[in-house]
Amino acid sequence: MTSITNICVFISGGGTNLQSLIDGEKNGEFAGKIKLVISNKKDAYGLVRAEKAGIKNIWERDNGKILKILKDENIDLIVLAGYLKILPPSIIREYENKIINIHPSLIPSFCGKGYYGLIVHQKALERGVKITGATSHFVNGETDGGPIIFQETVKVLEDDSPEILQKRVLEIEHKVLVKSVKYFCLEKLKVENKKVKILKE
Ligand code: GRF
Repeated sequence: MTSITNICVFISGGGTNLQSLIDGEKNGEFAGKIKLVISNKKDAYGLVRAEKAGIKNIWERDNGKILKILKDENIDLIVLAGYLKILPPSIIREYENKIINIHPSLIPSFCGKGYYGLIVHQKALERGVKITGATSHFVNGETDGGPIIFQETVKVLEDDSPEILQKRVLEIEHKVLVKSVKYFCLEKLKVENKKVKILKE
């Protein structure tokens, strides 16, 4: 019997990725419990989503206070769901291979410093790629540079605008993120030489 994983989700915006995790927990899609939502933006709609779901949620920017709260809440897994602030080394060290990020492209394309939100899709369309997608990965000290967990592709269509493409990719992000959390809770994600092995048993 896998014990329940205590999860903290970090957000900065609308929180549709957070919502996919709230719904996933409710539907029993993973053996985890979202105990806390932290936003660096006071007006993030994701805080409203957390409130509606009865999940403790705070607006906090001080990394020292954040680290203390994570420990007080016995958090086992951090999920960055559209969190636009860089995590400090203190948190990354404390939660090595226990921080999952979702990125709206097929890393290593269209990622790294300055690649977030709509910009990612604008660049993909400018480059004329035929497929893009979503990537979940563990967070290390390098922006979007941690070990890749799962990826899923999305076809780019001739008449796509950045907004339309973002919407299609966002749906895949939700799927990839819930699957990544599920596998983490099942302890099926093993990091070896900076690569993630998906344990079968
Ligand atoms: C989206 O652009 C998504 O691609 C990325 O961060 C943004 C947040 O979306 N992961 P939401 O706040 O989860 O809706």
